Amino acid sequence: MTRPTVFITRRIPEAGLDLLRDHYEIILWDEAFPPRHKEILEKVPGVSGILSLLTDKIDAEIMDRAGSQIRVISNYAVGYNNIDIQAANQRKIAVGNTPDVLTDATADHAFALMLAAGRHIVAGEKNVREGNWKTWGPGIFLGADFKDATLGLIGYGRIGKAMAKRAGGFDMQVIFFDPTAESDEKARKVDLETLLCQSDIISLHAPLTTETKYLINEDSFKKMKPNCILVNTARGEMIESNALYYALKNRLIFAAGIDVTDPEPLPHDSPLLTLENLIVTPHIASASFKTRDNMAIIAAKNIIAGIQGQRLPHIVNPEIYP
Ligand code: DGY
Repeated sequence: MTRPTVFITRRIPEAGLDLLRDHYEIILWDEAFPPRHKEILEKVPGVSGILSLLTDKIDAEIMDRAGSQIRVISNYAVGYNNIDIQAANQRKIAVGNTPDVLTDATADHAFALMLAAGRHIVAGEKNVREGNWKTWGPGIFLGADFKDATLGLIGYGRIGKAMAKRAGGFDMQVIFFDPTAESDEKARKVDLETLLCQSDIISLHAPLTTETKYLINEDSFKKMKPNCILVNTARGEMIESNALYYALKNRLIFAAGIDVTDPEPLPHDSPLLTLENLIVTPHIASASFKTRDNMAIIAAKNIIAGIQGQRLPHIVNPEIYP
């Protein structure tokens, strides 16, 4: 009997690949750069599952090109804005993601960005390497205070809660905006306006949807405190890039630390990269050794369950099940 085929759009850690090799024929896109849309179209005819990355746009055309035997699309990410969920629902294709295992790694990175942006870690280090450290001085590289600061979280799901836990260790007050969550002992629910006006740090932890796209825009920056530090480890399109540039350049806010950009990757000639009060990392918030292995295992298990006709361990569109 021929084994089902799975297309994997990039080399993921062996822990996940091994699980899949045991069961399926694998077509692996083993390149440094993602397959283009037309290259995915060429690879998918006849596959039973696609293991995709956030860099791959998986739309109705790809699902139809795969054929009616396709049962599962498993995204190697917690976010799944690269997949057309409505198209998957119409075709009864299960879509999976990799939540939980990246919560702490992502919160750690958001905290690192917050501290680094607030305390000039990157600019200070550059200053030393460039030979400009000539003496100690009372006013050199003055930065933010974190004790007693108000941390405003946009999105209070798993990663938002992990942020609140960390903030407790810094004696911060935590508020959040999230229509789907309730206050708890670590954080108080507020409306968006209050969060923008009161926070010393604002960190984004919501999925990218039509409601959250460009949620942080010119108007939002006008409401923020001048000492505010903005952190984004969610999706780049939640912040309007031009408004971010204007706000940082004109000191409407103090600094920003972002791991995700719009567009992504950020072009080398982006005006954002001329700003000293911005630090940017290349979408690596979940990039810890254990996390990436665990993401691979979950993504593989989602594929296996989907092809076997079982409910995915981490299903994004449960509405496809009767
Ligand atoms: C995700 O999982 O959505 C992150 O952006 C990458 O790990």
